[in-house]
This record gives sequence, C-alpha cells and structure tokens, in this order.
Amino acid sequence: MVHELSKSNSIFATFMGEIRDSSIQKDAMRFRKNMERISEILGYELSKKLEYISKTVKTPLGEAEIHVLKEQPVLATILRAGLAMHSGLLNYFDSAESAFISAYRKHTTPEEFDIHVEYLASPKLDNRIVILSDPMLATGSSLVTVYKALLKQGKPSKIIIVAAIATPDALEYIQRHLPENTDYWVGAIDKELTAQSYIVPGLGDAGDLAFGEKY
Ligand code: URA
Repeated sequence: MVHELSKSNSIFATFMGEIRDSSIQKDAMRFRKNMERISEILGYELSKKLEYISKTVKTPLGEAEIHVLKEQPVLATILRAGLAMHSGLLNYFDSAESAFISAYRKHTTPEEFDIHVEYLASPKLDNRIVILSDPMLATGSSLVTVYKALLKQGKPSKIIIVAAIATPDALEYIQRHLPENTDYWVGAIDKELTAQSYIVPGLGDAGDLAFGEKY
C-alpha cells in the first residue's frame, strides 16, 4: 500500500516545499532539519498502522491505562543521504535499534550505473519490523540492492519504506522485488526522471544538500 502524504493539505507541505526550494536549500542546516521533520511526520503517520498493547502506568494521582508499541522496529537507512531521515524517525521511535548500510552509484557511463554496497551494520532482522528510509526513490535500484543486502541479517516480518520523494517507476520496481505486505510512506510522488536518473522536479541531490558536495 502506498501512502502519499502531500495528497492532503497540512503543515507537512511547508516542509516539503522548503526542501525543494533552491533559494532555501542553500541553508544545509534547514535542509537537514526539514528532512528530519518530514520523517517525524511520516513516522507518526505510519505508527498508526502498527500494533499496540495496553499497559498500566502509575501517575502521582492514580493509574492510567496506556497503549505502547507491541514490538520495537529496526530503523534502517542508507548512508549518507538517509541520515537526516533516520534522525527524524529515531526521534519518535526512540527505543528502536538501527541498521546502517552504504550504497552509491558507480557510473559506467554518465547515464548508466551499478549500485555498490560496502558497509553494513545491523542487528539480526529475523521476524523484525524494518522501517527502511531513503529520501529519494528515483529508480528503486539502490533500495532493492540494499534490501537484498539486509536479508543477510535475517528475514524481517515486515518492511516499511519511508521516502521524501519517489517516482511511480521506482515504486513499481520496488513493489516487484519486495514482499507483498510491504507498506510505502512517501512525501510526494514526482513523475519524471532526468537521463542521469535524478527526479524532476525533485530537489536535486539530497546527500549533497544535507552534507555538502562529494569530491
Ligand atoms: N538521489 C537524489 O538525491 N536525488 C534524486 O533526484 C535521485 C536520487
């Protein structure tokens, strides 16, 4: 199931607008902060679909029944562009464990590239809920490569994908390679790609905007 948050009006649209706006993008701290806020909201929305158990807590005046997550998810993200998203998700899922994986495009021609994974630090993933964040799903190929690499750590019970911007082609490609019960929470869906596989209108290079251009 794909949930696109920009479909309904809310303050979320302001944060999405600011990460896209090239005059505001010059402020890297604001870019990271907005990416974090976007992920917090995506995390809050997706949390409504998770399972909860009831628990009794003592207040200074009595007892209150509350609902807490039945199980803690693992928050997985792709280095380095996913770090601000990870931070936002971790703000809300503050007892979750984390998994980090690196992926980069190694170009064979200006238009063609392979995805290389070099680093993986993850807890065991057998029967865990894995929330996998990646700000930009352009073709879906890095996310699928990362998903396959994560499977070496065990088979999750459920995958939840979180992205700021995705293309319909990326979502379709990912849906073909990930389990059927995977849920998708995206800020916006943009239809076009450049020849170099950048999303249009998109926002540019999320990793460079958050952390500076690569050398
Ligand atoms: N990665 C980005 O950072 N931006 C895109 O448009 C596509 C992939």
